[in-house]
Amino acid sequence: MKICVLPGDGIGPEIMAEAVRVLNALGLGFEMEEALLGGCAVDATGTPYPEATQKLAQAADAVLLGAVGGPQWDALPREQRPERGLLGIRKQLGLFANLRPAILYPELANASTLKPEVVAGLDILIVRELTGDIYFGQPRGIEVRDVDGKSQRFGFNTMHYTESEVRRIGRVAFEAARKRNRKVCSVDKMNVLETTQLWRDVMNELAPEYPDVELTHMLVDNAAMQLVKAPKQFDVMVTGNMFGDILSDEASMLTGSIGMLPSASLDANNKGLYEPSHGSAPDIAGKGVANPLATILSAAMMLRYTFNLEEAAQRVEGAVKKVLAQGFRTGDIYEPGTKKVGTKEMGDAVLAAL
Ligand code: NAI
Ligand code: MG
Repeated sequence: MKICVLPGDGIGPEIMAEAVRVLNALGLGFEMEEALLGGCAVDATGTPYPEATQKLAQAADAVLLGAVGGPQWDALPREQRPERGLLGIRKQLGLFANLRPAILYPELANASTLKPEVVAGLDILIVRELTGDIYFGQPRGIEVRDVDGKSQRFGFNTMHYTESEVRRIGRVAFEAARKRNRKVCSVDKMNVLETTQLWRDVMNELAPEYPDVELTHMLVDNAAMQLVKAPKQFDVMVTGNMFGDILSDEASMLTGSIGMLPSASLDANNKGLYEPSHGSAPDIAGKGVANPLATILSAAMMLRYTFNLEEAAQRVEGAVKKVLAQGFRTGDIYEPGTKKVGTKEMGDAVLAAL
């Protein structure tokens, strides 16, 4: 069981240290090796996804990632930006399925900005296609062209999906729904975009293979509204790369706690990259106050999806629930009456709960 560990930038190394401690404490004999990705890799090698990291990531069964990026790299050309490292590893490993659960823990009910009755008991899963769509489509660029009789800058991107790309992400959503409440809502913009008409057609063609799962469709603008109006109507939502980027961030905020939200990105064989949904939080980096729970919960998803260690996954998730019940809180989820702790103390509490 080989794990490639990529702490990354900002708070990445701080939160990763706690997740690694938790994995070691399970005593399951993981082989963990660290490498550089993102801004730290740019500084050391000139590129955000260096060869050595590529080799390690490709040889591993799973990749555990902290976060990448920060203001000190914002001025770099696009090709050298830390985010390119992230896009590069997702693409190279064929990680086409991004799974983002949004769960509201009862102890954190006040963290949400929505009314308690709207979000109490929320447990939804967003399945986002990750390797296609307008984020990767060619041609793309910014060029000077003659348009409307004048020479001006022209920006363009291309949206496309093949039916096989839609089918494989559709299957991930249907399979995930089978382990949950058997409902899939497919999100598109078929009234305007042909690519997403194809998306809807393919989802409808798949549905008969999953007669035990209810398939519905929703236009993306309505889905954005419904997510804040009545989010508990959803079980699994499946959508393309761009809509999924936006809707998964929206869904995560229903819980109000960015520091609590894990994610998994899977290939066709359940090799996966696991990372918290948040970024590198440069504003609190180096202060020892970041919440490590999203990274620890990402490690739990790794146990579940890549290593098929459901019991160990539940042990870790149970330990996280326990520390919340015990009142331990990092700054991002703190409220009066609870115990404010730093990154390492939170890790200690999880280890003790384990
Ligand atoms: P961010 O998620 O890093 O931070 C947003 C806010 O949430 C900040 O106030 C931060 O302090 C707080 N926060 C985030 N994670 C936290 C944690 N674990 N504990 C406590 N507080 C936490 O998003 P932002 O500020 O938009 O981006 C910062 C950098 O991170 C940028 O360079 C961005 O490109 C990068 N980024 C990287 C991602 C990744 O590696 N997957 C995802 C999103 C952003
Ligand atoms: Mg995003």
